[in-house]
Amino acid sequence: MQAVDEVIRNRLHSDVVLIRQVAEYIINSGGKRLRPALVLLAAGAMGYRGTHHHELAAVVEFIHTATLLHDDVVDESELRRGNKTANALFGNAASVLVGDFLYSRAFQMMVGVDDMRVMRVLADATNVIAEGEVLQLLNCNNADVGIDDYLRVIRYKTAKLFEAATRLGAILGGVDEGLEQRMAAFGMHLGTAFQIIDDVLDYSSAEAATGKHLGDDLAEGKPTLALILAMRSGTAEQAAVVRKAIETGGRDDFGAVLDIIHRTGALAAARQSAAAEAQKGISALDAVTSSIFKDALLKLSVFAVERNY
Ligand code: IPE
Ligand code: IPE
Ligand code: MG
Ligand code: MG
Repeated sequence: MQAVDEVIRNRLHSDVVLIRQVAEYIINSGGKRLRPALVLLAAGAMGYRGTHHHELAAVVEFIHTATLLHDDVVDESELRRGNKTANALFGNAASVLVGDFLYSRAFQMMVGVDDMRVMRVLADATNVIAEGEVLQLLNCNNADVGIDDYLRVIRYKTAKLFEAATRLGAILGGVDEGLEQRMAAFGMHLGTAFQIIDDVLDYSSAEAATGKHLGDDLAEGKPTLALILAMRSGTAEQAAVVRKAIETGGRDDFGAVLDIIHRTGALAAARQSAAAEAQKGISALDAVTSSIFKDALLKLSVFAVERNY
C-alpha cells in the first residue's frame, strides 16, 4: 500500500496549480483505500508477484476519487473524509473538472499497462458506475422504488468497481476463466454489502466516524434499503411518514424516520441483508487456495459489514 501511495502521489502531478490543489486535497484527506487493497490482495491470492498491481490499484483509487468528486456535487454534500468536500471548498465547477482530470489520468495510466483485458474491465466499470449514478438520480424522491431497483443502483454505482478491482487481480495472476469469475463474484458481493452498510451508516453512525454528514441521503430523498423495508413492515402511519420523507427530501423528517427504521427492525434487516451478501462473496472464494491474501480478503468481508466508518 505504501508503493500504491507513491504511485498515487507521482501520478497526481499537473502543471495546472488548481488541479494539484483540488486533487491533493481530496487524496490527502485519506479514505480507507479499500479498493486498491482489493487489487493487491486479489493479485496476491492469485499468485501474482510482479509490480503492475501497484499501478492498477492506483488507477482504481483514482476512478473512485473521481466518482466522489462528482458524487459530492450531485449530492450537495459538504463533509467528506472528515474535511469540507472539494465542492464546498473550491466550488462545483472545480470539483467536476478535476474529477474529469482524475478519470482521464486513470485512463492514461491503464493504457501504460498495455493489456486489452485490463482496459476493457476498467472502461466497462467506469461506464457502469456512471449509469448507476444516473439511475439513482431518477430514483430520487420516488417512494415506489423496489428492492430490485435499489440493488441494481448499488451494483452499478459501487459494486462494479469492487468487482473490477478483484477481477484485475485475477487477470494479473493469469488464472483460468472459472477462477477469474469467482474473484469477480467475490468483489461484486462485497461491494454490494459495502454500499448497503454505507446506506445504513447514513442513519446510524456518527459523523466523527464516517467523516460525512448523516442524513445526506434522506435530504436528497434517496430510497435506500432500510426505508424500503420500513414501508413494507411498518404500520400504515409509519409507511406514510417514510413515504412523505422520501418524496419531499430535506432534513426535517430525519428524527421521525430514524425512529421508524429502528422500531420496525428495518435497519437491522438491512444489516442482515448486507451480511448475507458478504457471505455469498465468501462462498465464492471456497475453491481458492488458502493464503494470507485470501485470509485478508475474508477479513475485509467481515469489516465491510461490521464497520461504523
Ligand atoms: C464511499 O466509499 C463511497 C461509496 C461507494 C459508499 P468509501 O467508504 O470507500 O470512501 P473512502 O475512500 O474510504 O473515503
Ligand atoms: C456512492 O454512493 C457513490 C459512488 C459510487 C460515487 P453515496 O452517495 O452513498 O456515497 P457517499 O455516502 O456520498 O460516500
Ligand atoms: Mg454521496
Ligand atoms: Mg452514502
